[in-house]
Amino acid sequence: MPPTPALEFDSVTKEYRTFFRNESVRALENFSLRVEPGEIFGFLGPNGAGKTTAIHIAIGLMFPSSGGGRMLGSPFGNAAARRKVGFLSENVALYHRRAGKLLRFYGELNGMRDPELRRRTQEMLRQVQLEDAAARNAGKFSRGMLQRLGIAQALINDPDLVILDEPTSALDPIGRVQVREMMLRARRAGKTVFLSSHLLSEVEQICDRIAIVIRGRVARVGTIKELLESQDRFVITARGIDALMFEGAQQNGYIRITVPALKQRATIEKIWLAGGEVMAVNPIRQTLEDLFVELAHKN
Ligand SMILES: Nc1ncnc2c1ncn2[C@@H]1O[C@H](COP(=O)(O)OP(=O)(O)OP(=O)(O)O)[C@@H](O)[C@H]1O
Ligand SMILES: [Mg+2]
Repeated sequence: MPPTPALEFDSVTKEYRTFFRNESVRALENFSLRVEPGEIFGFLGPNGAGKTTAIHIAIGLMFPSSGGGRMLGSPFGNAAARRKVGFLSENVALYHRRAGKLLRFYGELNGMRDPELRRRTQEMLRQVQLEDAAARNAGKFSRGMLQRLGIAQALINDPDLVILDEPTSALDPIGRVQVREMMLRARRAGKTVFLSSHLLSEVEQICDRIAIVIRGRVARVGTIKELLESQDRFVITARGIDALMFEGAQQNGYIRITVPALKQRATIEKIWLAGGEVMAVNPIRQTLEDLFVELAHKN
């Protein structure tokens, strides 16, 4: 039997209605997605694509107009499942309380008690490097400090599934590295990470699979390798041939020839016939940014 998905959206449609003016915005349309347990899943898409909407529906902060889904095996909105999930909102809004107290408060909400709660609070403050600011009013924190506290809040209960809506947008480079390490540590411990981010290099570095959402629909889903390596064009690197015989770029004695998949074999044979040597055959690799921009324009 396949494992229970950590997160599963099944044909979710969400329409926001404004009651004053008779308008509606369709934020999600027949949106379906499956996130497997134990993976770091990247959730990408242009501004307004519907990412935060999808996350809020999963957490149970709002209802879909139609369709539904499951989180850790329970229907969206299930309170017991929610306690096993950590969530960082894209707009971290915390109360005017001491940072350490706030963190304890979130732990208590998730049913944690001392001494475990005290130990975990200290550990999380240390991980996000806010130990020295623990007694300060979080309402006066800088944006990056708030985001750090938000991450500590999301992980305080050692959740099985962590949902992070742009966790590193305000972080300095050191903070980004630390959050990346925290995500990798979570995966090693068998947890699932669902990460919405506009930082494509970060996503490329750590995500096992990604989905690109365009206008409320999943435009692409797969591993980065699957999505970026198109199998229809290849670069053949050769040497010992006359560059004029092949349309290729010459560099340091090597010739790089770009060919469609159908011509790959014939080109290699032609190189051999000409007395040349084939050094490498590689599929053409797009960047994630190329793919993102292409999909955003096409759809
Ligand atoms: N409460 C709301 N009322 C009306 N429309 C909304 C509401 N929340 C979101 N929308 C609309 O739904 C669409 C999707 O918004 P959403 O916040 O889910 O996008 P997003 O993918 O998270 O974008 P971003 O990358 O900018 O965070 C947008 O057109 C947005 O204006
Ligand atoms: Mg958003």
